[in-house]
Amino acid sequence: MKAIITTKYGSPDVLQLRNVEKPVPKDNEVLIKIYAATITTAGTMMRTGYPLIGRLFMGLTKPKNAIAGTGFSGKIEAIGEKVQLFKIGDSVFGESLFHFGTHAEYVCIEEEGIIALKPENISYEEAAVVGDGHITSMNFLKKLAKIKVGQRILINGASGSLGTAAVQIAKHFGAEITAVCSTRNLELVKSLGADNVIDYTHEDFTNNGKTYDIIYDTVGKSTFAKCKNSLTKNGAFISPVLSMSLLFQMVKTAIFGSKKALFSATGTLPIETIRTFLIEIKELMENGQLRSVIDRHYSLEQVADAHRYIETGHKTGNVVLSIKKK
Ligand SMILES: NC(=O)c1ccc[n+]([C@@H]2O[C@H](COP(=O)([O-])OP(=O)(O)OC[C@H]3O[C@@H](n4cnc5c(N)ncnc54)[C@H](OP(=O)(O)O)[C@@H]3O)[C@@H](O)[C@H]2O)c1
Repeated sequence: MKAIITTKYGSPDVLQLRNVEKPVPKDNEVLIKIYAATITTAGTMMRTGYPLIGRLFMGLTKPKNAIAGTGFSGKIEAIGEKVQLFKIGDSVFGESLFHFGTHAEYVCIEEEGIIALKPENISYEEAAVVGDGHITSMNFLKKLAKIKVGQRILINGASGSLGTAAVQIAKHFGAEITAVCSTRNLELVKSLGADNVIDYTHEDFTNNGKTYDIIYDTVGKSTFAKCKNSLTKNGAFISPVLSMSLLFQMVKTAIFGSKKALFSATGTLPIETIRTFLIEIKELMENGQLRSVIDRHYSLEQVADAHRYIETGHKTGNVVLSIKKK
């Protein structure tokens, strides 16, 4: 099968399209013919091997799994002898986490991994990207911030993968949403459910005197210190982008003060927890409350170009790797 092979950390040039052996499912695995996968900001960072702490999960000197990619959608082509939850021909979607392997024509996934039947009302491309922004923002809003009806939330980076999912998920939980993005994305974030918008190219949300119960900095462009005065008394600053300053503030606010700084590495949560997020997201997508925003599509031959585009830091929503030829 065709796959993107990465034998060392480095620039997008380390991504090589090669022919490799098709995987064979173990007793508890399904073999999926991949129709679409996602290429993510986190994926571009993993390719570089920085920040170094990520290498504890990915491989110290080179990627443990030479085939990159975690989000996927496709059809089950074969099943292991003990598989009971899925059958050949099922359309599925999910996330392979630190097993990677989805930037390829086939991948094997444990039947009790992060996998579910694909909602029939969405495309394979829309389903493939769910493992990134949708699952991460469900974790940050529901589990970490424990978002409640009527709370005021500000989402910084509302036009990214995490941000576009977060606006819709916060809406579902009944929060009042202020979305921060640039001029070109104002209409998009309003259409996703934002009650108020702030254009970051014209206004600094930390200087307008308004306060929020939750500030979700999806892109790590702000800090707890800058946002502190914009938080309500027991407010939380949450961000998926780990930095020394965030680590320091997490430790400090765990001991002192009522305002908190919080981080979570979603991929390290127990599989059962992440699977419950996937199932909740699937239901929201089935009843039309949550959709995937797709920016660009790339083929396996164009993966390095996709990485270069994502590294500009200006994608809108998600970037899809379309694998099965139409
Ligand atoms: N901890 C976890 O569990 C976890 C899981 C997944 C991902 N992550 C991390 O989450 C981060 C976000 O990823 P992503 O894919 O959602 O987004 P992204 O690709 O990093 O961000 C793209 C968006 O950010 C907007 N943006 C750029 N500068 C901005 C600024 N100064 N203020 C507000 N918005 C700005 C851009 O809008 P314009 O083009 O209009 O400027 C663009 O739409 C990444 O660092 C990723 O590694 C963490």
